Amino acid sequence: MVSSSRINMEAFVHWSWLAALLCLFCMGGEVRCDCTEENVQINGGYYTLTKKLDQGSKLVYHCPEGYYPHPHFYRACQPSGTWDPEPAAQQQCKLVQCPNPTVIKNGFVTPHLERYFVSNVTTYACHAGYALRGSSSRTCLPNGKWSGRTPICSHDSGNTCADPGVPPGASRRGDTFGVDDKVKYACSGDLFLVGSSERVCQDSGYWTGTEPACYYKYTHDTALEVSEAFGGAIMDTLTKLQPPDDVQTERIIRISQNGTLNIYIAMDISPSITEDEVNMSSNAVVTLIKKITSFVVSPNYEIVFFSSKIHEVVNIVDFLDGTVTVSSVIDDLEKFQRAGHTGTNLNLVFKTFEERMAFIKQRGGDERFKEHRHVIILFTDGAYNMGGSPAPTVERIKNMVYMNQNDGSRDEFLDIYVFGIGTVLYDDDLQPLTAGTGGHHYFRLKYDTNLHETFDEIIDESKVVGLCGLHRDYELTDDRVSKQKRYPWMAFVFVQGESPKKCLGSLVAPNFVLTAAHCFQFTDLPKDVTVEIEDRPGSRVKKVKKITPHPNYNVKARVDQGVAEFYDFDIALIQLEEAVQISSQTRPICIPCTQETSNALKLSGASTCQQQEELLLKTHRERLSFLTRAAPLVQEKGVFAKLGDSRNSCISKALMAPGITATDPRLAVTDSFLCTGGINGHRDHIACKGDAGGAVFKNYEQRTIQVGLVSWGTQELCSSGGLKDSNEDSRDFHINLFRMVPFLKSILGNDDQDDYAPLKFLSD
Ligand SMILES: *[C@@H]1O[C@H](CO)[C@@H](O)[C@H](O)[C@H]1NC(C)=O
Ligand SMILES: *[C@@H]1O[C@H](CO)[C@@H](O)[C@H](O)[C@H]1NC(C)=O
Ligand SMILES: *[C@@H]1O[C@H](CO)[C@@H](O)[C@H](O)[C@H]1NC(C)=O
Repeated sequence: MVSSSRINMEAFVHWSWLAALLCLFCMGGEVRCDCTEENVQINGGYYTLTKKLDQGSKLVYHCPEGYYPHPHFYRACQPSGTWDPEPAAQQQCKLVQCPNPTVIKNGFVTPHLERYFVSNVTTYACHAGYALRGSSSRTCLPNGKWSGRTPICSHDSGNTCADPGVPPGASRRGDTFGVDDKVKYACSGDLFLVGSSERVCQDSGYWTGTEPACYYKYTHDTALEVSEAFGGAIMDTLTKLQPPDDVQTERIIRISQNGTLNIYIAMDISPSITEDEVNMSSNAVVTLIKKITSFVVSPNYEIVFFSSKIHEVVNIVDFLDGTVTVSSVIDDLEKFQRAGHTGTNLNLVFKTFEERMAFIKQRGGDERFKEHRHVIILFTDGAYNMGGSPAPTVERIKNMVYMNQNDGSRDEFLDIYVFGIGTVLYDDDLQPLTAGTGGHHYFRLKYDTNLHETFDEIIDESKVVGLCGLHRDYELTDDRVSKQKRYPWMAFVFVQGESPKKCLGSLVAPNFVLTAAHCFQFTDLPKDVTVEIEDRPGSRVKKVKKITPHPNYNVKARVDQGVAEFYDFDIALIQLEEAVQISSQTRPICIPCTQETSNALKLSGASTCQQQEELLLKTHRERLSFLTRAAPLVQEKGVFAKLGDSRNSCISKALMAPGITATDPRLAVTDSFLCTGGINGHRDHIACKGDAGGAVFKNYEQRTIQVGLVSWGTQELCSSGGLKDSNEDSRDFHINLFRMVPFLKSILGNDDQDDYAPLKFLSD
């Protein structure tokens, strides 16, 4: 027995020695030594490999919701072809636990358990003489946190500050809550603390910092938590800088010249971050930037990817100089290719940002710099291995920004947010790098958190009702909801009267839809007309209160001059019985010559109608769009409006339309029309029956502005919607809304009534 086991042992040693030698040999010959999938399985879950079985690959464990991988979250493939940590049989998915809630003071928890697992429900009550604040019932959630807020049992002690409580899993030192009193927190066992470990009671009656929480290594922030906390904070920063709805010119100028928002973004692309995670942060940043562009505030951006080096996407100085635009930055971000990066130098990131700030300060002077707000947003796992700790650099940045600020508000001028991404987060190194007031600045994300969508929800459009034309210019999926978010102003008009008709329209105010006058007969009554706008689930059909065609619209006006049907002034406003509910799916489009449209176009100060028109219809061929009915819901048609020199030849085709015997096309196509169609230079789409009344629009960053309205065409090439190309001679004529402003203003801008809130039109 003894000898045979010795022989086996020798054979084993010999075998592995040989394998190692072979492996070294292979490496010398540029052949990889692979790890194997032996014994790495996880009970109850699965794993993914970041670089197959190659060295440097990471084997990451995944468990169903409410479970976490134990004892390891991942293994790394070593150059020797072995896993670190070594495979072991007991790798499994364990049920998520929540931190111990029985730490509550002056109260008790039912049930009293040794451990609390996901879905366990607890209730809280206080001892006699104490009152409960916070949640009286809490559930252990799959992300390792308790639902609701920390329950606190306190009695009125006459202290300046309220009892700050003891979060689950924590212990607190300090039981007096007078001015300058301190409380200190620690987390027990293998929990670690997120938030403020020390809080001081201030004169104001509030504690400094934010309530701490105890996290397990698997505890993470859900998309909803991130969007509420970060979204709330960034909205706050933006709305602080955004002038109120009744825009005072003076304030806009002050903001554009003095109060400046600088946003510095860094994304980790070092080897410990997977490609998916790089994509996640980069897509999230693109979404965030697009969202922010819908505000009047235009921040300056510094954006970098980093590993041991900095790859700068945009230098903030170029922003200050106006030599780059948001859209070019988004292009660059989307085009970015990660190439063999090694190491992680987080300090270099902060040093780069520090240099940029110093430059801005030197160039603009101390006084101007005082008006700058700075927001740093970092995506990383914090696994830096070069350049030392960034903490001293962060301190220097704080000093630079806080200098000369009054102590009470200085924290508002610098926010540092850290989004923890990656399989293993270095929480202790990352947390101290955050800065700013108003809640959480440190977020732990799970590998599958949809940050892109989270950031999309961040800026809650229902709170920014004033923003006409705000939309999402991408479609996650080609479904109805995505279409509504892209064209939140679209409306479908149905006329039942003597000659039933289907038209399109656009929501131009919460209770007004703009469409074509020719959709109606004189005999049509409001009850014969319905408008479909899906502003909330189950509510699509809207009742009509009043239809007002343009007073000058008269289809027979030029019969004598050889124009059987004359469509000048072919617009009508439909007033709805009730205002629609504004949301990301339902929102008015911007129309010419309103103050809101000037804001959307970022025309600061006293702008004019003419400035708007020059910006929107400036070249001799202007790219415009309109919608057509097609599954799902609508499709967008692309056309070029022929302006200036190109206009005459475009409108000459009007003479080929049936019913026109006149020889001068301008008799049918007055200056009120935009002309599209043809195949010269670009094969335009052509309007179909049923497209009439729809908006002819143009996007300006995240905002949509209606410049025209589909009216009539020379040929009927399609009878029921859909994408259809123009032929050489077919032309469409759209009412140019810039020519219809007095009519729009007389109704939409009428402040002599109490029925609806009037739009603010420019004075000239
Ligand atoms: C708590 O959750 C565990 C795991 O699901 C379950 O076995 C236990 O019965 C629950 N206890 C209570 C009191 O709900
Ligand atoms: C803005 O900056 C200018 C100098 O550039 C200064 O004259 C003005 O007072 C500043 N405005 C405010 C409101 O601080
Ligand atoms: C990352 O995004 C790029 C472009 O969006 C895409 O080509 C690439 O496949 C993505 N990579 C992963 C791992 O999803």
